[in-house]
Amino acid sequence: MGKDINILAIETSCDETSSAVVKNGRVVLSNIISSQINTHKKFGGVVPEVASRKHLENISGVIDSAMNQAKVEYKGLDAIAVTYGPGLVGALLIGLTTAKGLAYGLNIPLIGINHIEGHIFANFIQYKELEPPFVCLVASGGHSHIINVLDYGRYKIMGRTRDDAAGEAFDKVARTLGLGYPGGPLIDNVSKKGKADAIDFPRAYLEEGSYDFSFSGLKSSVLNYINSMKMKGTEINTADVAASFQESVVDVLSDKLIWAAIKEKSPYAVLAGGVAANSRLRELLAEKCGENNIKVLYPDPILCTDNAAMIGSAAYYKFIKGETSSLNLNAIPNLSLGL
Ligand code: KG4
Ligand code: ZN
Repeated sequence: MGKDINILAIETSCDETSSAVVKNGRVVLSNIISSQINTHKKFGGVVPEVASRKHLENISGVIDSAMNQAKVEYKGLDAIAVTYGPGLVGALLIGLTTAKGLAYGLNIPLIGINHIEGHIFANFIQYKELEPPFVCLVASGGHSHIINVLDYGRYKIMGRTRDDAAGEAFDKVARTLGLGYPGGPLIDNVSKKGKADAIDFPRAYLEEGSYDFSFSGLKSSVLNYINSMKMKGTEINTADVAASFQESVVDVLSDKLIWAAIKEKSPYAVLAGGVAANSRLRELLAEKCGENNIKVLYPDPILCTDNAAMIGSAAYYKFIKGETSSLNLNAIPNLSLGL
């Protein structure tokens, strides 16, 4: 057994300021997440300039807490990991400049991580024995991808959203229903009291064999339904609308993930990203996976949401291959992943 590798990770791509210390890629010594949700709630969504300012206010304290909780000294760190995209440019730059300063001051490598790649690694933290290859759905507020994880750092994108991300659709429909922000957990909750087959909203499967998604047509259908009910003066059953909308989203997400797993002979259908916390998605996927002899895996809710531990895990597998970044690394708001 060689020396332990401790990585301090920083994540500031959207509205969570997070820092973590991860040992040997899979052991989380600390994972501090300071959420800005309460600040952005009153605006109905994330305001980029406000997010940057909040990251700047919080980042030092969050890193201090991560180091204290991990009980690791700065001289015991082997690398600094940081998300450099995709995300909000001002928000990313706060994390990136802090990480560069630490890497330079401590004279240890900087490792830039793609945020989408990070989400996948939440599963390596959750399942200590999990190894690639497997097929993974990364669904969150900014992205919805089906990815064949060929190896650590090698990804084939099988499908992606052509318009709204799944989480974005949840957030927009929740806003229209007057539920608040962020919409995903609120729709998930209220749907438990509604009927998923109350309204027949469309499911966009696109061309045969496509693993891409499209949620904008569904979003328009929900808006049209609500407007037509209002014009008729008929009361809207919020729980039924939420449950029927949610069912349309998770039906397509789970079908496409399973088709992709079957095509690639993946023994697992793996979930990641904020939407992976959706209780109906987990339930429906488990039902469908059972029929196909595929095992469904997903991280604990705290690892589904944006967090730095997943960034530290991804960085470990780059560190052991000597894949470090230059101190000239820049934030790339539309950074893509894979082949
Ligand atoms: O991964 P994440 O924390 O941030 C991004 O990278 O975007 O994902 C946040 C998204 C939001 O759109 C939120 O509404 C959605 O994930 N979300 C959910 C649930 N919890 C969070 N969507 C559906 N059901 C949930 N339980
Ligand atoms: Zn995310």
